[in-house]
Amino acid sequence: MKSFDIKTKIYFGESSLDRLEQLDSSKILIVADPFVVKSGLGNQITSRLDRASIDYEVFSDVIPDPTIEKITLGVSFLVKSKADTIIAVGGGSAIDQAKAMREVVSQMDEYKGVHLRLVAIPTTSGTGSEVTAFSVISDTESGQKFPLVADSILPDEAILDVELVKTVPPAITADTGMDVLTHAIEAYVSKNNDEFSAALAEKSVEIIGSFLLRSYLDNNDTHARSKMMCASCLAGIAFNHANLGLNHGMAHQLGAKFHIPHGRANAMLLPLIIQYNSDINKHSRSKKEYPNHVRKYVTLARLLGLQNFNTITTIRALVSWVEFMVKEMDMPLNVSSMNVCSQEEYFAAIPEMAEAALADSCTATNPRTPTKEDVMKIYIDLW
Ligand SMILES: NC(=O)c1ccc[n+]([C@@H]2O[C@H](COP(=O)([O-])OP(=O)(O)OC[C@H]3O[C@@H](n4cnc5c(N)ncnc54)[C@H](O)[C@@H]3O)[C@@H](O)[C@H]2O)c1
Ligand SMILES: [Fe+2]
Repeated sequence: MKSFDIKTKIYFGESSLDRLEQLDSSKILIVADPFVVKSGLGNQITSRLDRASIDYEVFSDVIPDPTIEKITLGVSFLVKSKADTIIAVGGGSAIDQAKAMREVVSQMDEYKGVHLRLVAIPTTSGTGSEVTAFSVISDTESGQKFPLVADSILPDEAILDVELVKTVPPAITADTGMDVLTHAIEAYVSKNNDEFSAALAEKSVEIIGSFLLRSYLDNNDTHARSKMMCASCLAGIAFNHANLGLNHGMAHQLGAKFHIPHGRANAMLLPLIIQYNSDINKHSRSKKEYPNHVRKYVTLARLLGLQNFNTITTIRALVSWVEFMVKEMDMPLNVSSMNVCSQEEYFAAIPEMAEAALADSCTATNPRTPTKEDVMKIYIDLW
């Protein structure tokens, strides 16, 4: 038996931030990305709370890829604040930090039976964290990144307001946009995929095909940016239901070990993972039937307008299109061009990263079951 639901209520479209004035709360803790505070973007939140005379405090000790230490700091702040509602505003890092903080606090004796409401407001169009039951945590001691997964982590509400993503610079638009694409593709070919997640992933891919490059090329293209916010959220709901795959399992390790931004790591891996999962080689031509997930890649390619001569050439066209997007958005195609570590350091880390990628919960639903050797080879090819 399967089921599908969306616990998070989504507010979107013009003036959706006005929802904040309707919150029934006596004290709010705003968990904010430091950029949101420094840039004044946060005023769009606080001015609405002021108007509604709702008391609030701000916690902005948030870093990219939240760590156990930062979450612990946030937990004491949250308990001291006596807030009944958390507003998380920022990219995936701020939202994941707030989700983890609420999860820890909810398990304390003094919070038994208390429901702390969480409202997630994304300022990047990337992770879909506003609608997922995941919170990705970095463990600085072990140098690993792992997802916490529980339904109780899901935000109660999400607010998608394009006003908050207008300041995202091109490089972050590229990283986060390619994260959305990876979510949609991995959810679509996941072992857990079904008609519900498929519908969401297809719509997301269709939007990305039309609007990601536009968002990258023109910061002021508000229409394209609001479409990408929806694509991000749709892909989030899709992978929350169907889970992800090896691409994310491997990207998490690159983030934890070498601090490669999450979306950039996914983008570099995506062409290699599509090729690995499709397993198309010189013998493929003789195949009459391709596995289901290969046909799904073909469907996505068609949605992107890449229909080609046959299955093999269509998969190649999909891989080339992903590489085209990476190049057009000035993103690196391999680790060596990023100068994040020496070749020796990178190759020494491969066996451990491969093991951690295999153990990562995202990898379990990859359509092709990888061996440690397979994963090591992909990391080697990524150099
Ligand atoms: N919970 C999930 O379901 C899920 C899914 C995928 C990824 N993640 C995690 O989310 C994190 C990545 O999130 P992200 O890609 O959104 O990046 P991020 O939150 O780390 O932010 C990246 C950078 O963008 C800046 N930024 C954010 N909003 C901005 C804006 N409006 N204008 C200008 N700059 C802005 C931030 O200050 C930061 O420097 C990773 O830790 C990743 O593992 C979580
Ligand atoms: Fe992701």
